[in-house]
Amino acid sequence: MKNQQWRLSSRPEGLIGPEHFERGMETVLDLTAGQVLVKNLYLSFDPTQRGWVNDTESYMPPVAIGEVMRAGTVGQVVSSEAPGFSVGDLVQGLGGWQEYFVSDGGLGLSKLPAGITPQQALGVFGTTGLTAYFGLLDLSDPKPGDTILVSGAAGATGQVVGQIAKIKGARVIGIAGGPEKCRWLVEEAGFDAAIDYKNESVDAGIQRLCPNRINIFFDNVGGDILEAALDHLALNARVILCGGIAGYNAVTPVPGPKNIMNLVITRSRMEGFIVIDYLSRMAEFLADMVPWYQSGKIIHLEDVQEGFDAIPATLQRLFSGQNQGKQLLRLADPV
Ligand SMILES: NC(=O)c1ccc[n+]([C@@H]2O[C@H](COP(=O)([O-])OP(=O)(O)OC[C@H]3O[C@@H](n4cnc5c(N)ncnc54)[C@H](OP(=O)(O)O)[C@@H]3O)[C@@H](O)[C@H]2O)c1
Repeated sequence: MKNQQWRLSSRPEGLIGPEHFERGMETVLDLTAGQVLVKNLYLSFDPTQRGWVNDTESYMPPVAIGEVMRAGTVGQVVSSEAPGFSVGDLVQGLGGWQEYFVSDGGLGLSKLPAGITPQQALGVFGTTGLTAYFGLLDLSDPKPGDTILVSGAAGATGQVVGQIAKIKGARVIGIAGGPEKCRWLVEEAGFDAAIDYKNESVDAGIQRLCPNRINIFFDNVGGDILEAALDHLALNARVILCGGIAGYNAVTPVPGPKNIMNLVITRSRMEGFIVIDYLSRMAEFLADMVPWYQSGKIIHLEDVQEGFDAIPATLQRLFSGQNQGKQLLRLADPV
């Protein structure tokens, strides 16, 4: 059986794009004891993939030149020589940008709970939802009366953060790029208001919408948006550093916010986290998220691109803001 792949061909300096990847093809060999052959169905696209291709130390080793690009996937077991995995099982793992992958001993593979679709497993019930849930609720304590600002609000993580904060009774303001994203946040996702940072100064928007300042800032973006938010912190505010996508394609080190001393003046706390530290608490998260989702308290927007050829260009959508909601790509549906 032939397996088409996208491999990393060079390390990007600046914006990542299709030119940094090349097609590969390999023959899938017969399985040996303990191996599982999985057909990839859906791929997840995550800003952190930009960091994985840098030759720098991070929370995971860099993808090597010539290696299949790492990516979160949901697939279906085609054949299995490992106990616990049967043909037809839907499984989640880091299957990468390829049609098939072979897992040794089911390492890193987990079966999807019954009734959960591949899209949900990679989004609202997967690491996206987990990031939003524990990033917000473990690093802060949103409650009625609080004003919460969320950057990257119409993206995968931001949309869920804002809706959880609403469930907790807070007033939620989103920051997103463009009128359609801002309309969706307010009219469909239940945010109280949104700031279109591409058409309005974030500083002016915060002044207008947060007259009592910000109690919690959930930041997916960094850079100028972080700096603007730090100018409007309430006393004892929480600044949650989830990501800094504004700097991921920078060619020189990104300077820190020049108003960092506002944390001192407002007695505030700024803290980062990485979602993999919460993987062991998945059941705790699902116990809340499944009923929230099933009752319509949380809606989840997905942006699903199509086909193997579109894979490298789909990653770029995250950095141009073309994606609205969780960025996925469909290779095939389960059979
Ligand atoms: N700490 C963790 O464990 C963890 C886990 C998952 C994700 N993250 C981080 O969370 C953030 C969001 O990730 P996601 O998967 O949910 O992606 P996402 O928000 O669905 O997609 C990225 C969004 O970022 C916005 N963006 C891109 N470049 C920007 C810029 N220069 N300035 C402002 N906004 C920009 C775009 O929206 P607009 O159209 O609104 O600009 C784009 O849609 C990322 O920083 C990611 O690294 C962290």
